[in-house]
Amino acid sequence: MANISENPKPARITFLDGRGELPMLEITTAWSTAEIYLHGAHVTNFKKCDEAPLLFLSQCSRFESAHPIRGGIPVIFPWFGPREGMGMHGFARVKPWELKEVLPAADGSMSVRFQLPDSPEAGAYPEFAADYVVTVNEGLTLELIVTNKSSDAKLEFEECLHTYFAVEDISAASIVGLKGVSYLDKVANFEKKTEANDAIRISSEVDRVYLDTTAAVEIRDARMGRVIRVEKEHSASTVVWNPWVAKSQEMPDFGNDEYHKMVCVESGNVSANKVVLAPGKTSCMKVKLHSAAG
Ligand code: BG6
Repeated sequence: MANISENPKPARITFLDGRGELPMLEITTAWSTAEIYLHGAHVTNFKKCDEAPLLFLSQCSRFESAHPIRGGIPVIFPWFGPREGMGMHGFARVKPWELKEVLPAADGSMSVRFQLPDSPEAGAYPEFAADYVVTVNEGLTLELIVTNKSSDAKLEFEECLHTYFAVEDISAASIVGLKGVSYLDKVANFEKKTEANDAIRISSEVDRVYLDTTAAVEIRDARMGRVIRVEKEHSASTVVWNPWVAKSQEMPDFGNDEYHKMVCVESGNVSANKVVLAPGKTSCMKVKLHSAAG
């Protein structure tokens, strides 16, 4: 990692009551700070010392155990989108994950490992374990590790790290890395299309599920002068979402004008890219976020 001596200051972790009195961890490294709620194992903040926050967090977000946090990185699992008779985007984002390990490393990084607790909703699936490892250093690395613990049944699920990135103004931002990729256009009744643009610009509601793409994506924010790079492993889908005007007004936990300040670029395995795990097998989706002036 750049710009820090060979002996960086060791990372620190502090346990706090966060907003809504929900338990939260604050991690400070030589390069950055991060905040993670146990509710949803939800990273709500990552900020490099010399940069604006990487993640958008809505001023209207609820911090209540029954609701997901609006912004940061919701962990979407074990399904993506609506499901009849069930909540949107799975139950992992509204469960109180257990902190299992705190792993400071000699290079000044800090990793924390969470585990999804057992719940009645999980009973609808073959037995499984879901762990989430967050590593904080100059960037942020996220690993969602799912093991099928059943001896005879396959485990099928969708997963998505629904990352809300902060931008200075969406009108000056572009998303690069998806040209030629097929996507389902959710604002056009799931019509299948192919991305024609080198740089995607957003000037209306965008809700697209790009399939069969493992490519890194960049969010180029010309107004802020920052490039965010999203690299991923074992993730075949990328979702791009901005609610724009009408949808923003419909959401009780999102400010009417906040769509200017964010874009979701979500790494996952959803829809036709859902994961099917044989008994005893483990999958690990890994996402690395880095930012630099640009
Ligand atoms: C995106 C979906 O991933 O999440 C959108 O593609 C959805 O369709 C958005 O509106 C937000 O979902 P929620 O449940 O957090 O309001």
